[in-house]
Amino acid sequence: MSDSNVRRIWLTGASSGIGLALAEELLVAGHKLALTARTLGPLEELDRRFPGQVLLVPGDLTDGEQITAIGDRIGQTWGALDSAIINAGTCEYIDTNHFDAALLERVVRTNLLASSYCVQEALLLLRKGNKPHLVGVCSSVTYLPLTRSEAYGASKAGMRYLFESLRIDLAHENIDVTVVSPGFVDTPLTAKNDFAMPMRWPVKKAAKYISERLQRTRRPMEIAFPGLFILTLRLLALLPTRVQLALGKRMARSAAQHKDAQ
Ligand SMILES: NC(=O)c1ccc[n+]([C@@H]2O[C@H](COP(=O)([O-])OP(=O)(O)OC[C@H]3O[C@@H](n4cnc5c(N)ncnc54)[C@H](OP(=O)(O)O)[C@@H]3O)[C@@H](O)[C@H]2O)c1
Repeated sequence: MSDSNVRRIWLTGASSGIGLALAEELLVAGHKLALTARTLGPLEELDRRFPGQVLLVPGDLTDGEQITAIGDRIGQTWGALDSAIINAGTCEYIDTNHFDAALLERVVRTNLLASSYCVQEALLLLRKGNKPHLVGVCSSVTYLPLTRSEAYGASKAGMRYLFESLRIDLAHENIDVTVVSPGFVDTPLTAKNDFAMPMRWPVKKAAKYISERLQRTRRPMEIAFPGLFILTLRLLALLPTRVQLALGKRMARSAAQHKDAQ
């Protein structure tokens, strides 16, 4: 790749799952990556495998001061960012028999609030970058209310709105914004799920799909997959609310049966 095509990319959540696989795709393509997660080992392994391409910027993204320090470190080293991929996230499910608002707070803190602190730091550097691109890894969960997803869905709906609204307000600065909306992908995050996950993709396939689209000259506004899964959710979302409720109740029942059978 010619030097002018090499992008300086900050990727959060790079220690596992989609982030780790995406880091590998982008490093193989020749880009420079600043990698963030709390677990250092996998980031160091990438640094070892791709010498000179990796900037290690580990930290806990629920701590605003650590995010500022990460932004400063990237700024001091590279002077600017061309892309920021805000991917780090967590998932916990609500049990309405013991509604736990602290759980919701934890999930929102990581998925929405930490992401917004990352946006704050990223924008300072993207404004100095080349064809700047801001990317938020949200979720297809936001197309339709799903059982037990009160916390995760709310956090990702907030994140989607944040990024879609930013897209409008950053357009005059020529900062493109892409929202990534995965369906189910095989990662440590979904390995904990105790229900059926239709049309689940292997993580490498998901990372390839995202990476190829992020590198297109004409940036997509949304990268959503698998197509049939997304279409199904979108069609279900068009149904009257009462019909959605009836289907949701059925899903909740079959999820409970699946759990009991395990
Ligand atoms: N897998 C799916 O089916 C699916 C579907 C839709 C959307 N998504 C979204 O895709 C993104 C990646 O998910 P995944 O499935 O790849 O999950 P994963 O394997 O659990 O990876 C999550 C990543 O986020 C990092 N992270 C979490 N909390 C953090 C914190 N406080 N500070 C810094 N880093 C933190 C983790 O690193 P450390 O633990 O080392 O800090 C890890 O690198 C998430 O935003 C998720 O919501 C996933």
